[in-house]
Amino acid sequence: MCGIFGYIGKKNNAPEIVLNGLKSLEYRGYDSWGVALKSLSNNNKIIVRKKTGMIGETNLSSFTDSNIALGHTRWATHGGVTDANAHPHLDCTGQFAIIHNGIIENYYELKQQLLAKHHKLISETDTEVAIHLVEENYINLLSKYTEVSEDKLTKLFIEAVRKSFIQFTGLNAIIVMDLKSHSFVAAKNGSPLVIGKGNGENFLASDAHALSPYTNNVFFMGDDQLVLVTDEQIETFSLLDGHKLTPKFERISWGSSFSSSKGNFAYFMLKEIYDQPKILQTISENHKELINDFVHQIKHSRGTYLVGCGTAAYACLAGTYIFSKIAKRHVNFTVGSEFGYLVDFLSNRSLVIALSQSGETIDVIEALKKAKEKGAQIGALTNVIGSTLYRMADLKIPLSAGVEKAVVSTKAFTAKMAYLYLLAYHLAGKSKLGQQMLMKAVSASEEILSENYQILIKKLIQKIYKKEHLYVIGRGLSYPIALETALKIKESSYMHAEGFAAGELKHGVIALIEKGTPCIAFLPNDDSYGANLAGAMEMKARGGYIIGISYKNHEEFDYYLPINDCGITSAIPSVIIGQLIGYYLAISRKTDPDKPRNLAKSVTVK
Ligand code: F6R
Repeated sequence: MCGIFGYIGKKNNAPEIVLNGLKSLEYRGYDSWGVALKSLSNNNKIIVRKKTGMIGETNLSSFTDSNIALGHTRWATHGGVTDANAHPHLDCTGQFAIIHNGIIENYYELKQQLLAKHHKLISETDTEVAIHLVEENYINLLSKYTEVSEDKLTKLFIEAVRKSFIQFTGLNAIIVMDLKSHSFVAAKNGSPLVIGKGNGENFLASDAHALSPYTNNVFFMGDDQLVLVTDEQIETFSLLDGHKLTPKFERISWGSSFSSSKGNFAYFMLKEIYDQPKILQTISENHKELINDFVHQIKHSRGTYLVGCGTAAYACLAGTYIFSKIAKRHVNFTVGSEFGYLVDFLSNRSLVIALSQSGETIDVIEALKKAKEKGAQIGALTNVIGSTLYRMADLKIPLSAGVEKAVVSTKAFTAKMAYLYLLAYHLAGKSKLGQQMLMKAVSASEEILSENYQILIKKLIQKIYKKEHLYVIGRGLSYPIALETALKIKESSYMHAEGFAAGELKHGVIALIEKGTPCIAFLPNDDSYGANLAGAMEMKARGGYIIGISYKNHEEFDYYLPINDCGITSAIPSVIIGQLIGYYLAISRKTDPDKPRNLAKSVTVK
């Protein structure tokens, strides 16, 4: 959550650089935004501009020149969405500015101590507590000296941040800007921070891709580290005792053939839906070397566990069916936030495979830390190279779906599905067939993305978009597809939608069906067809408006959306229809599918 960007260097348009960085990160949080800069024209003071809402077309001319600035896009945790609660926050003296990602769990006690020492806090945030604590520690350290050199001031600043940060409980990342030493100090023990090294200029960001216009030479900060960043220096220290560490810089290759701009599409979500056939085709052509180690490890492990959250969790659930059907193998699945409570059975023969678009989802990362403690091997399917998950995994497959900007995940889901199919086919010794089946799904998906098909979906949307509730059923592999379809609808259009295993209908859910309730039934050509159709008929008998998504039409359907039969990979075109229904519902209900209310792209807090 929260986008973070900082710049220090020789250029005087630091605010513009920071704003552009923030815009590329705005999908991480968009309640409010803010920038702090050291004004070159106004007595070298720190000036802060912050506002609720999105950055939009903010007028850059209202920023004064500066060669050091930092900014933040917020996803509120402590305190409502107000201008005052937006970051950056300043200390009492105006010497320091802070931006923060995470939750300082003991902020209340710290706040009481600071108030008792007459600090003036003006927001409801835990972040503001942090900057006053830095101020307090700095003043205490400074008071021990009668004279201090510039170098000493920098050292005191580092020590003040370090002393403050180790007083916080919870998982946090902060960047503090100091007017006097003209530098940043960043510290983290949870949320991601990346330092980018330029030529006479340096950058800080919450996501590496935000640095791509400036440098590919990056250092991913580790937990319990603190970094001093000036225009020429990047120095790393241990947070625990302050001793110096050697930062490990890496050259990142940004090269993805999938553009991260919207092009002619109205929304990123639609653009990313349309990216899918090409991504799947590329995966089908390039996967072999990437999956060999995984196949070997799955074969030799005693128990394979899939872990993910939200959409990624549904991909994991789909994986359990895919591995069972294709590879005749049992894999377990648990959502990330629950996995930590189930790790007691893990051993050093276990394999835990995490699925995560961002590679930063804290519920997944925390679960994996516990699995690591048990000696388990960690596998990762993630879209973000260099992410926390990517770095902590023993085996990794980059999804290579290109930056996914819409908060509502689409292409990362089908990329995960593609790899799960290919892994299962490889395990079954049928890799060629796996590739062919995936390509069948590509052709079926292209059909669904045709112009005529959009007309068909839009007509359906006109019939249902004013409804309050919608239900989706599936069985077998269509069950996770039903769950994922319902999630797309909820997130993008705020229509209440629930996905169910069709067999569960008569155990309670059917009580919700009334005359005209839209009910989507996934009916692929597999062993679930008959029983799933029976479920659709049960809903129809209670007045449900049945939307059949199937390889063949049926008289029970009130509306029919066809799919070319591609056997077990039909789940891919099926879910693309679910994504499109979510998208067009959002358009008709006038919601923003790229930035749904209350959500953020990477969920880095618990
Ligand atoms: C749904 C969605 C979320 C994410 C979930 C996990 O459209 O985007 O449910 O899937 O927060 O995120 P990652 O995959 O980044 O771990």
